[in-house]
Amino acid sequence: MTDKLPNMKPYEEEVKEFSWDLSKEELNYKDGDTINIGEYCTDRICKLGKADKTALIWEGHSAEVKRYTFDDMRVLTNTIAKFLQDLKINAGDRVCLFMDKVPELYFGVLGILKMGGIAQPLFSAFGGESLLTRLDDAQTSAIFTQKKHVAKVRKILNDLPSLKHIIIVDDDGSKPLREREIAFNMEKAEKVENFDVYPSKAETPSILHYTSGTTGKPKGAQHVHYSLISQYITTKYVLDLKDDDIYWCTADPGWVTGTSYGIIGPWANGVTQCVSDSGFTAENWYKFIEKHKITVWYSAPTAIRALMKDGTETVKKHDLSSLRHLCSVGEPLNAEAVIWSEEAFGLPFHDTYWQTETGSMVINNYPGMKIKPGSMGKPFPGMTATIVDLKTYEPLDKQGTVGMIALKPGWPAMMRTYWNNKKAYDSKFVNGWYLSGDRSSIDEDGYYWFVGRDDDVINTAGHLVGPFEIESALLEHNAIAESAVVGKPDPVNMEVVKAFIALNPGYEPSKMLELEIMNFVRKKLSALAMPQEIEFVDSLPKTRSGKIMRRVLRAKEWGEEIGDISTLENDL
Ligand code: WT7
Repeated sequence: MTDKLPNMKPYEEEVKEFSWDLSKEELNYKDGDTINIGEYCTDRICKLGKADKTALIWEGHSAEVKRYTFDDMRVLTNTIAKFLQDLKINAGDRVCLFMDKVPELYFGVLGILKMGGIAQPLFSAFGGESLLTRLDDAQTSAIFTQKKHVAKVRKILNDLPSLKHIIIVDDDGSKPLREREIAFNMEKAEKVENFDVYPSKAETPSILHYTSGTTGKPKGAQHVHYSLISQYITTKYVLDLKDDDIYWCTADPGWVTGTSYGIIGPWANGVTQCVSDSGFTAENWYKFIEKHKITVWYSAPTAIRALMKDGTETVKKHDLSSLRHLCSVGEPLNAEAVIWSEEAFGLPFHDTYWQTETGSMVINNYPGMKIKPGSMGKPFPGMTATIVDLKTYEPLDKQGTVGMIALKPGWPAMMRTYWNNKKAYDSKFVNGWYLSGDRSSIDEDGYYWFVGRDDDVINTAGHLVGPFEIESALLEHNAIAESAVVGKPDPVNMEVVKAFIALNPGYEPSKMLELEIMNFVRKKLSALAMPQEIEFVDSLPKTRSGKIMRRVLRAKEWGEEIGDISTLENDL
């Protein structure tokens, strides 16, 4: 256990002195230089004398462990980069990663970046339709996947003429490969010792992360290599990573936490990371921490609430004394969870707030700063945040008033656009502020308190799902005339998906039909998007213009005031 001062100075001091130049200096980067995240996470760390240091400790389902040094990672990412070049994948092409949390996923992201490609990680639990929408929107050229997921890709192939290569990373030759498929075994491939890394510049696109909105298709938040400047320094200051730390980020790289703080930030800091590809149980997680002597742990409220539910008995069976710093992200972290973690681990979880779009942490609880349980903390030094009026978008100066979190653009990791959708991107900016879409208040000490989202997007277990996507999928079911999808409170997942459904003539509500519909959505979209509850209704509340008012249904679920329903057409 390290007993050193935090990397970051006391908050007020740091706010006065901080400049992004500090991060650039540490990374030896000057404006105009080439900057490649893949190189910064591998070759540069080796050059700094850490070639033999462990970069990744990976553990699979059956507790098999693989270890890779920074030099192994340098060579394997070269090997992947060269393989893609040989396939005639060009700089700027989108390459998807559709895999469980296997080493190939982590090294794949860096390999793609090293050859100038745009990495598009997608959650391996996605169903065919979720996958199709995102691959079609990005006009993706190649996809890395595993045998167990390839069937989902095969099914949508005809709709994806631009997808040239399906790269299977664990093919054993037992079955013949099909159209466009190619086997690639990272470990057995001829190692590429030296590779000319693509000379990307600050604004060269790096990663494309799809995120769901209230309406329309999911949007691809497009990031650039310059994001490293934010990700490096926030990792150092907020996660407080030091040279001797063993760090565990529980997020999947299909989501932004898993790339910004599960790949880029920690490895650019030359820190050892652990990855577990086995499922969640409290017992498994504590064993993992104990076995690998994890010191810094970045997780999410849903997991913490599940651990809480499991109780402190399981905690006590394990030696978790290696832990020294805990952080959380993705959803509101209840005060009770912070208090429980102090009790269970002797350490509080530090809440951090940010988004796919922001690329790096925004409002956080810093090591050494007083935690007010239930508060997200304060803006990262070097970033200007405020809350703005929900209608006029003018900054609010009254403490305690609820407004929308707004940020002054200009921090390095901000997305540069939504892929193919500049209009949606532009609509995020008003009066010179980036609008987060989240409601919050600020207290007399400058701490932010999360209130809720300002749209209909559902945050289930820290994952955003768009009601529109689910409603569109539901409409494809023969029995369904119309539907409205909202979030419903849940003690562990914060929200789960609930669907109100009006049936077509000739169909009767039944338990069987309910299950069939649930399964229909799970297969098409994902388990996250699957309604946990279905309520059959005769009709849905609509505005006079015919728009379904999800707000009304949601308010009922949460026991909240329904608000202004003067435009409502039908009675409830
Ligand atoms: C949305 C962004 C950024 C990593 C994972 C999520 C919600 C995020 C917090 C928090 C309350 C939070 C917001 C935000 N959210 N962190 N600490 N407290 N809510 O990325 O999928 O883009 O989701 O998650 O609503 O807008 P994302």
